[in-house]
Amino acid sequence: MLLPLLALALTGHSASTNPHKPITLSSTGGFQIGGRTMSAPFNPNLTLSCDHGYMEYFLPTRPRKTSLVMWHSSSTQVWQNTWSGGAGFKDLFLRRDYPVYLWDGPRVGRANWACEATVYTPAYMDTSNFVAWNFGPRYKQWWDGVRFPTEDEDAWQQATSARYVEYDTKSNVELHARAAAVAADSGRIGRDIVYLTNSAGGLRAQLTATLSNSTNIKGIVTYESIGYVYPDNLNITAGKGGFGPYVVPLEDFKKLARVPGIQFVWGDHRAENYSYVQESRRVAGLINKYGGNAEVVKLGEVGVRGATHIPFADLGNEDVAGLLDEFLEGNGLDGRKKIMLCYIGLHVTVYMYRPQTLGFLACMV
Ligand SMILES: *[C@@H]1O[C@H](CO)[C@@H](O)[C@H](O)[C@H]1NC(C)=O
Ligand SMILES: *[C@@H]1O[C@H](CO)[C@@H](O)[C@H](O)[C@H]1NC(C)=O
Ligand SMILES: *[C@@H]1O[C@H](CO)[C@@H](O)[C@H](O)[C@H]1NC(C)=O
Ligand SMILES: *[C@@H]1O[C@H](CO)[C@@H](O)[C@H](O)[C@H]1NC(C)=O
Repeated sequence: MLLPLLALALTGHSASTNPHKPITLSSTGGFQIGGRTMSAPFNPNLTLSCDHGYMEYFLPTRPRKTSLVMWHSSSTQVWQNTWSGGAGFKDLFLRRDYPVYLWDGPRVGRANWACEATVYTPAYMDTSNFVAWNFGPRYKQWWDGVRFPTEDEDAWQQATSARYVEYDTKSNVELHARAAAVAADSGRIGRDIVYLTNSAGGLRAQLTATLSNSTNIKGIVTYESIGYVYPDNLNITAGKGGFGPYVVPLEDFKKLARVPGIQFVWGDHRAENYSYVQESRRVAGLINKYGGNAEVVKLGEVGVRGATHIPFADLGNEDVAGLLDEFLEGNGLDGRKKIMLCYIGLHVTVYMYRPQTLGFLACMV
């Protein structure tokens, strides 16, 4: 029997939140995940548990369903603050009620208990950081209008000092991806995971999606991804180093096509002929060819100018966050409960539902 009904759907949209709104969390913490335990070759009674990643979490009191996993290349710090110490993506998205996870892959940051000897060699990288992070074309020659407090020597000092050892080797990319895939499939970071990555983290996240055996990875947004994953049916020669190309079996590559939304984001100081921009276009095309949903976004073409290599840490990062809001909403990943009021005769019933579910039908039964 069909009842006369009027359904009214209200979304809990609150994208551009008040920047002073207090952040209310139900819990914070962290855990080790992935890795292995190995025995000492000279005495099997002695073991070492090593090569796990470290996941720190921040859970809002009224969490959305989607977990944002913030995956650094240079250091966790870039997700925590802007270059001037303002609110980073961590706080911006906690204010929007997303559970936020900060990931340190095996051997870096707070996961440095390695299964193999590691070596750190001081390499005088301040000058190369400046250019690699696209603050300008040459050391201390800033791009005009760059979103960095260029007059603030301490801000520069903070940026370059925060860096971790990265171990950009092919085996390390695999090590990181395996640990992250275990984390993704474990359910411990939710069942709707969106990776936000920077630089070399992008390649690791793509590879993670090809290794995962669950459908928990729902989105990947790479900010200036240096390195891409390809299927093995194109006669592409795999790179020997840590920046790809990475070649995986076609069946595994197709897992990227099953991720609901993938976005490769570039700042405006990246020319179209920059090799990694070209790779991002090619890989987005391949993902879409197999039925996926990948796109390349150049910030300069959508009104965001002056971006560095780490756009989410730039001054005025709210507009980069706004683009992420659109991506999440556009792919049904904003995970916000909607309220539906059903008027059936004189009775009013309130149903909570998620946009992805059949809330309208729920209203009729
Ligand atoms: C390992 O432990 C077992 C059982 O306690 C002991 O019998 C054995 O001698 C130990 N091996 C070494 C190399 O210490
Ligand atoms: C996925 O399944 C394959 C085949 O069983 C297994 O080798 C691999 O370790 C699994 N991946 C993860 C992340 O558990
Ligand atoms: C694959 O690539 C290799 C090396 O680049 C080349 O020698 C070979 O001819 C290629 N094969 C095909 C089928 O294109
Ligand atoms: C990219 O294009 C610019 C301008 O056309 C040119 O100067 C530059 O050499 C090109 N770079 C590469 C890597 O091809």
